[in-house]
Amino acid sequence: MANYKIKDINLAPAGKKKIKWARSRMKVLALLGDEFERGKPFKGIRISASLHVTTETANLMIALKRGGAELYLAPSNPLSTQDDVAASLVKDYGISVFAVRGESNESYYENIKEVAHKKPHIILDDGGDLTNYVHKEGLYDTIIGGTEETTTGVIRLRAMEKEGYLKFPVIAVNDSRTKFLFDNRYGTGQSTMDGILRATNVLIAGKTVVVAGYGWCGRGVVMRARGLGARVIVTEIDPVKALEAYMDGNTVMKMDEASLYGDVFVTVTGNKDVITLRHIKKMKDGAILANSGHFDVEIDVKGLYDNASEVEEIRPNLERIRIFDKDIYLIAQGRLCNLGAAEGHPSEVMDMSFANQALAAKFLLDNRGHLQNRVYNIPEEIDTYIAEAKLKTLGVEIDSLTEEQKRYLSTWKEGT
Ligand code: NAI
Repeated sequence: MANYKIKDINLAPAGKKKIKWARSRMKVLALLGDEFERGKPFKGIRISASLHVTTETANLMIALKRGGAELYLAPSNPLSTQDDVAASLVKDYGISVFAVRGESNESYYENIKEVAHKKPHIILDDGGDLTNYVHKEGLYDTIIGGTEETTTGVIRLRAMEKEGYLKFPVIAVNDSRTKFLFDNRYGTGQSTMDGILRATNVLIAGKTVVVAGYGWCGRGVVMRARGLGARVIVTEIDPVKALEAYMDGNTVMKMDEASLYGDVFVTVTGNKDVITLRHIKKMKDGAILANSGHFDVEIDVKGLYDNASEVEEIRPNLERIRIFDKDIYLIAQGRLCNLGAAEGHPSEVMDMSFANQALAAKFLLDNRGHLQNRVYNIPEEIDTYIAEAKLKTLGVEIDSLTEEQKRYLSTWKEGT
């Protein structure tokens, strides 16, 4: 059996069923798995990953293993691990996993360290913790390249590239159209509302939901909150996004003002100090706070706990915090609420995100020695290939350009 640190190996049977269910929804990744099994492109390749340990990640790991890879998996958040899935990966698929749901920050970083020290050829990351660690500890000699799943991680990587600190090429999986248009928007939109509902079971209809950030994730959350009957207020710092939110029919204002009206607050900015004690002081008794941005820095969670007169876990993943003579409810300790209080994105959407991850890893191998220590986007052909494959699995056919149409468009583009 694989090397591991998980909660309980006896949870494997339940995990195996969940992985199978997700696989039935992840048809593009399954097709890639079949292809990898035939060609064994990852034979002799060690891959270390820091990804949320969910059923969808399990299917990515399985597809890479079918392609011959040796795999080491750590989580990318201490609260998002599904212990039964971790157990099944170890027992049924021989994959080394180091992850326990609800572990301390210290133990979380121990797991990152564990996979970083396996002399990986490729690293797969979500948020940049693993990439950061291998850079800090100088563990990059064996690394051909890496991939990055999320907006926040890509921002960190671009900063590293700019400072000349990046030691290997990295593919910004997040920036593929088949990733952010679907995962960030529809995935985060649905699963964030799912997390809020599972944690609280409140009625959304008629509530005022304040969404901070109108990026791809924010748009998705707003769309789904409105669909459930909420009145939505958006806060932004980018004038163009703010205008878009306004013209999409939302009320737009500063967080200082929105704090007075909100029943439910959701942060999805990738930024810090979006909701601080100054805002919480103004909020109504009973306000609910949720974060779906990558790190738990968007809401001042420390300030909340440090200034609370009482903290009580009132339901799973929901704390009642007595502060400023009122009750404020915090979901999943201010960590990603869709992964902490629900199961993360639906498999159908992760099918495309993880097809990008799998093909990015293969692209790194195929182009070994030809890439610089930079952040690359996935080539357009791979993005298009994933969209075509997804459409095919959905039974959707589309038109293609005739030679005449191609000529017409290119002539028009040249302005003649
Ligand atoms: P984005 O860059 O498209 O959007 C972020 C938006 O927040 C921008 O429009 C920006 O102007 C705005 N913003 C920044 N600071 C702000 C502030 N102080 N107040 C109000 N608005 C502010 O990024 P995207 O893709 O929407 O990602 C947002 C965060 O969600 C990132 O941390 C990302 O890593 C994370 N993410 C989480 C997922 C999940 O499963 N929960 C899935 C995908 C991304």
